[in-house]
Amino acid sequence: MKAVICGTGIDRVLGECQECSIETRFGKVQYLVKGDTVIIPRHMRNHSIAPGLINYKANVKALKELGCEACIGLYAVGSITSRLTPGSVGVIEDFLDFSARKLTFFDGISAPLRHTGMVNPFDRKLIVEFAKSWYKAGEKEIKSGIVYVMTEGPRLETPAEIRAFRNLGADVVGMTLASEAVLLNELEIPFAAAAYSINWAAGLDEEGVSFLEDETVERISQKLLKVSLDALKS
Ligand code: HPA
Repeated sequence: MKAVICGTGIDRVLGECQECSIETRFGKVQYLVKGDTVIIPRHMRNHSIAPGLINYKANVKALKELGCEACIGLYAVGSITSRLTPGSVGVIEDFLDFSARKLTFFDGISAPLRHTGMVNPFDRKLIVEFAKSWYKAGEKEIKSGIVYVMTEGPRLETPAEIRAFRNLGADVVGMTLASEAVLLNELEIPFAAAAYSINWAAGLDEEGVSFLEDETVERISQKLLKVSLDALKS
């Protein structure tokens, strides 16, 4: 079984899916099945769960228990550098975690302490499959080597925070990827992540923070979902 974990915008374009649920020791997970792929809309379909309140451990444990062999995560982000500008899509290759969440399956209390390596948190083969499907869908370019910084949210950042993140090497900002990347790596589920920018981050847009129009986000979301499902077939 393969899986997609998706977020803002994509939860609106999922269409017909079978609704299922599974009980894990971290809680119940509701998920969708489309063809032979499991889809977890991380904020639920009505976008009602804040990033800090998502049950990341239950979601990842559910994927493990369902026998997941590969997972693509899709992330709406704000642009910090022009390496990924609003409206474009890129593959994430590294991340910074500035959240207050310190999630692990291996804390030394409920399970033996384990220090999972994070040198290569993203699966090269899966990234290549994603890029191939992206080009097959008629796109000319996919940005690579993007660095993601995760904040706690749900508030957006201050301009000073964004300047600091840029100085630290971040290209885009979001609120969910690092939590999923860490847990998926801990349970050894091959993982690739694509980000789609929906705004310039705080302080980089004269008008404050303004988001792309819903129709544009939906168009990108449709494409990302289709490409992800295709990439996972390989
Ligand atoms: N900040 C944090 N998360 C985000 C943003 C942002 O500007 N845009 C989309 N997700």
